[in-house]
Amino acid sequence: MTKKAFIFDLDGVIVDTAKFHYLAWKQLANELGFDFTEKQNEQLKGVSRITSLEILLKFGKIQLSNEKKSALLKVKNKQYLGYISKMNENDILPGIKSLLLFLKKNNISFSLGSASKNARLILKILDLHDLFDAIVDGNDVSIAKPDPEVFLKAAKSLHKNPQDCIVIEDAKAGIQAANNAGMISIGIGKKEVLQEADFILESTKELTIDFAKKLID
Ligand code: BG6
Ligand code: MG
Repeated sequence: MTKKAFIFDLDGVIVDTAKFHYLAWKQLANELGFDFTEKQNEQLKGVSRITSLEILLKFGKIQLSNEKKSALLKVKNKQYLGYISKMNENDILPGIKSLLLFLKKNNISFSLGSASKNARLILKILDLHDLFDAIVDGNDVSIAKPDPEVFLKAAKSLHKNPQDCIVIEDAKAGIQAANNAGMISIGIGKKEVLQEADFILESTKELTIDFAKKLID
């Protein structure tokens, strides 16, 4: 049997940056004169920065020029970078570091598959960057999840066929992207959101080495 490989999403799987994305978008929405709820935020998870802004503006029923949108993206990212600059290794979600070290020790390859253009910076802040066999992020892809592009590129970087890749995701769009790629999908979070996943775990605490072993064998 071909050896399996893992592809990890970043935001909401390796680290809880999803809350910082939400805070930064909420602040932007408030400045534009409307509120933005956590429930609405679910639709921004996993999708690119520009698509997130477009969804947000739809919620606020606001239409803007491309120039204004670019300016707002810069404002949002500056705010977001302010939050993430305060993070450190303690912000890695429970169980993730030990799972990565287990995979490394057992020569099971793994890649990042993230929509974020800040992914490399965040992995460096968390001191995880050099553990990854490959990193595919928002700078490498042109189509946002649920399109499978990001995961197919990650599989290619790992020299694996899609069916031998196991994707860990916290976003509905991410699970759909994994399924569209023909990979095994593991959702971290709420059942109502992630029902299309092959496996659903409530939190990364359940993403144990034993659970990973069962998927590999
Ligand atoms: C994804 C997040 O991982 O990255 C999205 O789930 C975010 O919420 C996207 O919009 C892009 O991130 P960044 O860091 O490039 O703004
Ligand atoms: Mg995510």
